[in-house]
Amino acid sequence: MIKVSNLTKRFVGRTAVDAISFNVEPGEIVGFLGPNGAGKTTTIRILTGYMPATSGSAMIAGHDIFKESLKAQQRIGYMPENVPLYDDMRVKEYLRFRALLKGMRGREAKNGIAEAIDLCGLSEMRSKMIGTLSKGYRQRVGLADALIHNPELLILDEPTNGLDPNQIRRVRKLIKQLGLSHTILISTHILSEVEMTCDRVIILDRGKIRAADTPKNLIKHLRTAGHISIEINAAADIAANAIKKIPRVKKVIKESTEQEWTRFTVRAESGTDVREDIVKLANENNWALREIHSHGASLEDVFVELTQSPPTD
Ligand SMILES: Nc1ncnc2c1ncn2[C@@H]1O[C@H](COP(=O)(O)OP(=O)(O)O)[C@@H](O)[C@H]1O
Ligand SMILES: [Mg+2]
Repeated sequence: MIKVSNLTKRFVGRTAVDAISFNVEPGEIVGFLGPNGAGKTTTIRILTGYMPATSGSAMIAGHDIFKESLKAQQRIGYMPENVPLYDDMRVKEYLRFRALLKGMRGREAKNGIAEAIDLCGLSEMRSKMIGTLSKGYRQRVGLADALIHNPELLILDEPTNGLDPNQIRRVRKLIKQLGLSHTILISTHILSEVEMTCDRVIILDRGKIRAADTPKNLIKHLRTAGHISIEINAAADIAANAIKKIPRVKKVIKESTEQEWTRFTVRAESGTDVREDIVKLANENNWALREIHSHGASLEDVFVELTQSPPTD
């Protein structure tokens, strides 16, 4: 459904997207995951025909997006990062206006709008002014807009951004439901979003793809180590430095301090267990240890390992 090959976008002084290649197969829900500034929106704008690439190619449902951009765009339902809506239009008026802009007329437009309203759970809101809707419902109007022309592919740029937890849950559920009948590429910087909604994840960082696989395979094949949480009664800096010196410890992150207790997350090389070394170190220094807990590798560990520059301290 999407074939991207060596796609590059350079802005003055920076390469936002650096020779990336990936495919999305029909029926998949793929998460495009990366920290802010990774290049997600830039890639999406290129795929949806809103921005030219510097080099490389991209095909949507067999159409070259640079040579046959209209044909490619017809196959895509695009929901941009900030959905531009008109506050003083009613939901149905807005969708009618959008259908017209997409070149739809008569029965085709009517059916497209009715179906989009139904799919997005907007029936009761159809006659409301957009300006009076909650942020969650505004996102749904944006989704309905993307769906009117019945595209087989949905490209959603951070669709849950700015929503409260309840709204996020509802929009995620809606996306999962849309995934039953659509191919979806969804960008996000929120890890749990991908774990909950996506079949496959593409991890992007500083314009490059760091990994692309199912969440399960990423955890298995990258052999990423889990992490250890400890809570220790010691001067934080001294303890952190001493733990860092334990062989095979890669990183010590101070999480919080509560009176003389400090919580650390310790990351070590995969396949090692440094818990005994930590206990030994605490005993030698007479530091009380009130928690030591090992966590299995999660997608978060994979993400941290792939997208953070190596520790410099
Ligand atoms: N129009 C632009 N002009 C110059 N730099 C840009 C432009 N758009 C994005 N960038 C830069 O490209 C990089 C990637 O941005 P973006 O694709 O928006 O990342 P993301 O969506 O992953 O947060 C950032 O460093 C951003 O500042
Ligand atoms: Mg973005």
